[in-house]
Amino acid sequence: MRDTWWKKAVIYQIYPKSFYDSNGDGIGDLNGIQKKLPYLKELGVDAIWLSPIYLSPQIDNGYDVQDYYTVDPVFGSNEDLYQLIDEAHRLGIKVIMDFVANHTSDKACWFQESRKSRDNQYSDFYIWKDAGPDGKEPNNWGSNFGGSAWTWDEHRQQYYLHYYAKEQPDLNWENPAVRKAIYEVMKFWKSKGVDGWRLDVITSISKDLSFPDNPLPMTTSNQQNGPRMHEFLHELNQQVLSPFDMMSVGEAPAAKAHDAHWLVDPKREELDMVFTFEHMHIDRKKGDKNGRWALQEPDFVALKRILSDWQSELSNCGWNALYFENHDRARVISRWGDTETYHFESATAFATILHGLQGTPFIYQGEEIGMVNADYKLEEYNDIELKGNYKFFVEEQQTIDEESFIDAVSKVSRDHARTPMQWDETINAGFSKGKPWFKVNPRYTAINVKKDLQAAQSIFRYYQQLIELRHNEDILLEGDYELLMPNHPYLFVYKRTFEKKTWLVVANLSTNIQDLQVEGLPQQGYRFRIKNSAREELTPRIEPFEAFIVEF
Ligand code: NOJ
Repeated sequence: MRDTWWKKAVIYQIYPKSFYDSNGDGIGDLNGIQKKLPYLKELGVDAIWLSPIYLSPQIDNGYDVQDYYTVDPVFGSNEDLYQLIDEAHRLGIKVIMDFVANHTSDKACWFQESRKSRDNQYSDFYIWKDAGPDGKEPNNWGSNFGGSAWTWDEHRQQYYLHYYAKEQPDLNWENPAVRKAIYEVMKFWKSKGVDGWRLDVITSISKDLSFPDNPLPMTTSNQQNGPRMHEFLHELNQQVLSPFDMMSVGEAPAAKAHDAHWLVDPKREELDMVFTFEHMHIDRKKGDKNGRWALQEPDFVALKRILSDWQSELSNCGWNALYFENHDRARVISRWGDTETYHFESATAFATILHGLQGTPFIYQGEEIGMVNADYKLEEYNDIELKGNYKFFVEEQQTIDEESFIDAVSKVSRDHARTPMQWDETINAGFSKGKPWFKVNPRYTAINVKKDLQAAQSIFRYYQQLIELRHNEDILLEGDYELLMPNHPYLFVYKRTFEKKTWLVVANLSTNIQDLQVEGLPQQGYRFRIKNSAREELTPRIEPFEAFIVEF
């Protein structure tokens, strides 16, 4: 039997570059993470997930790996990582590493060799194609960072495929030697004590080898769920996940609830969990060519429907990965909450909804103190996606004007999650004694760990309580789920039931008072298990961003 520790766990994601800088070079590092382990222990999390710390030219902040076996010196040494793993284990915290297996850096020796000739050991490690008859790209596929997914290589006189930057060539999973090489890396890290994997864009690893054009040129609709994806995932599982009891959570951008069980049903032996993007697109105009930058007001009815679909689809055949934030998502309270009047309330309301569901909650660094989006000028942002997309959509295609683009950036740029962690009110928010690699959010004097911990209303303490509930209450693990008031535009209300217990989870996702219309609310004999207000009684009047869990 596999150990399913992760079902009861709460996992904390660390973006090492921005977490804590122990040596004053302005970049967060592994020793910095080790210093902050007691903080994470106090929060109560069971595992940390480290975004990539492998040797990398950092074109995409480490998601462009040059050498899978070596820690990038900006983060420390392999030795530092082994020590961090030991210390985390000593504290009872597991360590999940990020594995980027869809692509490498163009500086990786595999790629350097591959581009040298068409007949060496690494020639087929990547996806090479001759030019079309007119010398153009082999087809019309676009990259996620703007422009074509193909780049011409002068030396090899062929195009290579890259779903992301041209410095991130896609690996050729059709080649058994590639798969074997990847399994070797994973075994190596297992031998160093790593407990599991977050698998970067893992649903992109299989490509349609007939390379058909996309219906719309320069788009990315070809990228997910290729013909051999399930076969590759099953092999990965059998080679390096199941035999070593490694937890796995795969990034699955296109996964919908109705097909998710194909990825996470334990009987299929593929992955333990997947991160869907579906619920994070409730403020995006569907089908708009400007993708991420085409925004609308958040549709909370859709949010409830999507999360509920996932709850019911996976209730007996899989497990949910629950999240609102990560290093690719802006701060949830800046997107969907209220960071001024209801900062504490909105941060805790979103937390309540998420942690009340069945699945494994993931907390992203800073979420536990309600960090908010950065209000930067366009030139102050750093992200390659933002820069590539600006060039493509605003300058070349002119499908969005600069003002609307900047507006969207202020809401949803990935950079909002990547500003340095705000520890205290001292210089650089206590993140670094040097010059931080990325500007600190000026709101750090008001929002930081030290201040939050001293506040009468502490978001951190609220998370602590939620985590404690998850550890102690089987109803959260096993209870049935039922969505109530599905069409209410702002109230998110659901029931969990297990054995003789019923829990009602309630959150108001608006700045107005709302009316809770749930039949059979008890007049007495109930108790609040957590709440973000001073409420003593179960009345139907729900204050702005008020949230609670009540048991009866
Ligand atoms: C998904 C990662 O989360 C993102 O940060 C990265 O840019 C792409 N995959 C490419 O690796």
